[in-house]
Order: sequence, then C-alpha cells, then structure tokens
Amino acid sequence: MNQEKQSEQYLLEVKNLSKSFLGVMALNKVSLQVRKGEVHAVIGENGAGKSTMMNIIMGDLKRDEGEIILRGKAVDFRSPADAIDAGISMIHQEISLVPTLSVAENIWLGREKGFMKGPFIGEGVRKARTKELLDRMGIAGISPSQAVSELTVAQMQLVELARAVSTDAEIIIMDEPTSSLSDKEIDILFRVMRDLRDHGVSIIFITHKIEELLTISDRVSVYRDGCYIGTNACADTDKEQLITMIIGRTLTEQYPQISPPGEKTVLEVRNLTGEAYRDVSFTVREGEIVGFSGLVGAGRSEIMRGIFGIDKTFGGEVLLDGKPIHVKQPRDAVELGMAMVTEDRRDMGIIRSASVKENMSVSMLKTFTGPLGIVDVQKERQTVSAMMQEISVKAANMDMLITSLSGGNQQKAILGRWLMLEPRLLILDEPTRGIDVGAKAEIYRLIGQLAAQGMAIILVSSEMPEILGMSHRIYVVRDGRIVFTCDREEATQDLLGLHALG
Ligand SMILES: Nc1ncnc2c1ncn2[C@@H]1O[C@H](COP(=O)(O)OP(=O)(O)OP(=O)(O)O)[C@@H](O)[C@H]1O
Ligand SMILES: [Mg+2]
Repeated sequence: MNQEKQSEQYLLEVKNLSKSFLGVMALNKVSLQVRKGEVHAVIGENGAGKSTMMNIIMGDLKRDEGEIILRGKAVDFRSPADAIDAGISMIHQEISLVPTLSVAENIWLGREKGFMKGPFIGEGVRKARTKELLDRMGIAGISPSQAVSELTVAQMQLVELARAVSTDAEIIIMDEPTSSLSDKEIDILFRVMRDLRDHGVSIIFITHKIEELLTISDRVSVYRDGCYIGTNACADTDKEQLITMIIGRTLTEQYPQISPPGEKTVLEVRNLTGEAYRDVSFTVREGEIVGFSGLVGAGRSEIMRGIFGIDKTFGGEVLLDGKPIHVKQPRDAVELGMAMVTEDRRDMGIIRSASVKENMSVSMLKTFTGPLGIVDVQKERQTVSAMMQEISVKAANMDMLITSLSGGNQQKAILGRWLMLEPRLLILDEPTRGIDVGAKAEIYRLIGQLAAQGMAIILVSSEMPEILGMSHRIYVVRDGRIVFTCDREEATQDLLGLHALG
C-alpha cells in the first residue's frame, strides 16, 4: 500500500467498534472505511452484526467501545435525527413507514418546516416537492397523496429510498433494500444508486446477493460472527472468494443431490381461479419438489395463498390425495396436513412478544401436549433445539425474544416452525430471501431430505438458480396463468426467462 492510500481521509470511518447484548458479543472491534462517492457493500452471515453496526452509526443503539469518524471528526449521534442532520440517512431492513399516512407525509415526516404557511402545512407545496423528487428519481406509478397502506412492498421500499434521498444525505445506508424487489424495481434502485454516487453520495449497501453486489458496488467489506474479515475492490474479487470470506470455508456445492419423486399424486389443482389468477391447474407428487418460476407479481404467491386459505378463491377444485378439499382458512389447511411459509417478511407470522421457542413450536403444541393438557416441555425443547441446529438459527438461547434475533435468523426460525410440522404438503414462498449463502445451502439440503422422505413440496422463487437447482418439475407463471411447464432436465435459465417475460 502506498503512502497516499495510508493517509487517505475517508468520508466515514468506523474503528474498533464493539457491542454486546446481554453478554452476547454482536460486534467485536470491527472497522469500516467508506470513501466519498462510492457504493460500499457490506455482507456477512445472518447475525454477523451488519444491522447492529449501522444502528450504532445512526445513533439508534449505544456502542460499548470504538470510534465513528465522519469527515475526519469523531461523532456520537444520540438519535437518528442527529445523524440525518449530519448527512447520514438509513433505509431499514424492516419497512418503517406509517401506513395510514400518505406518501408525501411519510417522506417529509418530522421535517415539515419547509412547507409551513404560518401555522399550517402547505399541502400543495409538499405534494409538488414530492412529485418532483419521485420524478427526478424516475419512480413512476406512485402518487404523493396515496396512502402508504395501498402500496406494494416494493413500492414502499422505493418510498423509503425517496425519503433517504430527500434528506440530501451524503451517506445513505441501505439495509437489504432489494430483498423484496422485482428485477424492474431493482433496476430503478440501481439507477438511482449510480446517479447518487455520480453526485458524490456514498452508499453503504447491505445485501446477501453476491452477483448483484458485484454489479453495483465499488468495494465490499465482509463480516463474520461480529468480526471484520476484510475489504476487497469488486473489480479484483469474485463470488467464490467472497463466499469463502463470508462463511470461513469453501462451499463445495450449494444444491444437494435430489432423489427421484414417487408416483402418487398428493396435490391436484384444477382450474383454480382467484382475484389475480385464472384457470390454474397443476399436480405435485409424493417426494416431488415442484418449482414455480416467474416475475415478482406474476401471481404465484396469490395462487399459493388461495390454496392455503389465506385469500378467497372463486372457482376450481383442489384435491389432496385424490379427495376434494375445501379450505376456508389456513387452519383448515394445517388440519389437512399442509404448511406454508409465506413470502412477506412482515406478515410471515412472527409473534413479536414471544420467545424463539414459542414461535417455533406454536404449530406443534398439540403434539407436545399430553392427554391432561400438560405440555411435555422437555420434548418441546429437544425438538426445537434440533431444528435450530439443522437450519442454523443463531440465537444465544431459545428463550430469548424472537425480535432480538437478526432479521435472517427470525426468518429461519419461522421456516423451522413449519418444517417441524412435517406436513404432507409444504408450500415455500421465497424461503431463502434475506438468508445468507451458508444457511441457504443448509436449507436446500433439508428440503431435499424432506422430499426424499416423501413430502410433497412447492417452491416459489424468483431466484432462477434456486428453481433450477432444487426442482424436479417447473411451472412458469405469467399474468396469473401457467404458461409453461417442463422437467428439470429440459430447464435452462434462458428458457424460463423467455416464458416468464412472454
Ligand atoms: N436487541 C437485541 N438483543 C439481543 N441480541 C441482539 C439484539 N439485536 C441484535 N442482537 C444480536 O446481535 C447479533 C447481530 O445481529 P444483527 O441484526 O446485527 O445481524 P445482521 O448481520 O444484520 O444479520 P441479518 O443478515 O440476519 O440481518 C445477533 O446475534 C443478534 O441476535
Ligand atoms: Mg440485518
């Protein structure tokens, strides 16, 4: 390294930052160096400490030790408002908009000063400023006066981005902004990111998607188990090298060997019709993993929600083991031996006030409860603990609140809840979204194992490699209809993409 580099002044520098939660070391003397006008990716396993570091920078959490240096000066923000004043904005992993307020109100919340007309807020000015902001960012289809509750999750994420941009921040932190965006919206996001960078804004970009990271970022810093591992220039690194840094070993194969399916049909769907889909027919056999490919918004999740009784269906038939079933609500589906992991992070069924153990065992309580209504606590703990190990849910112990787990670990816990049920039919909607590469491989292995034991599995995923690597058979959905189907052997990324786009 030359002399000049060593004395480089970074726009933002984190030095020796440490943080423990009740004796658990979330961050252990980590560092981060962000240059002016760069996209700096931050990656690491679920629970590595990424969100914690960002929350400390923003003044949302107190650090135990270490320094944060902004433009060469040590800073210690007491609240996110202080950080915003100093030019740092953050888009959180979980959406933090107020659903009942409008887009414009959300964007300028707490910063209405610029719009005051005497004691009142100048609604017209606020709307105009919002419109201008959205136009400048190239975001179409969102109106300033629309209530946030009417938006899709992807649109909400774009509003969060607009809010961060509206603060004229010099540093924008994005905590997994792309996890629920479609390719089209990711394009918008990346365009905005490049544009901001070209105007000298620095972006800290947290993600689990390595290919995506390599296309947009200038440099990448890797963290593991609360420790800083290293920083690479994206031009001088590749996927393999990053995976090794992230999980601390090489990942020989991401997808497991999949055993051939059985003969017996478990699920048969005939001409199912709902609000967002029409005439959908397909089958799933015993031990078969059936992939549902397509673009975000094609109607795949809606079809599954219809089958599972979350949404109403208008017509068609569903047969389980050859018998017609009438599922009116998810509880009916569970009674019949079905389980579903939904895609939406927020309504995926987390019981926020309960522990990891309670969240995982809730659907199994009957199994653990004896004839006198007494729960076999030991059996419950053993089963939960085994599942936590199997899919590596990282938690200090199973009695801690689920909300104190990292985002990805909360998701794994909920996935574990349904896997523990050992259902006859398992529907997985984007099961690995927000999950790190190492844990993904473990989840794939488990899915393969469950299929080998005879479970019928539906895998809805927008990640084509995942569909290709895991499915026996694939259906492509476009505009609420099945437009193509093929076997694993015939499937290629191009073929599926072609049919998904039409
Ligand atoms: N409020 C809290 N109480 C107790 N432990 C916490 C709390 N917040 C975070 N932790 C722990 O700190 C560690 C780091 O969590 P963090 O959320 O920073 O991980 P992350 O890298 O963002 O992971 P992910 O990719 O899953 O979002 C985890 O082990 C987590 O359980
Ligand atoms: Mg996180």
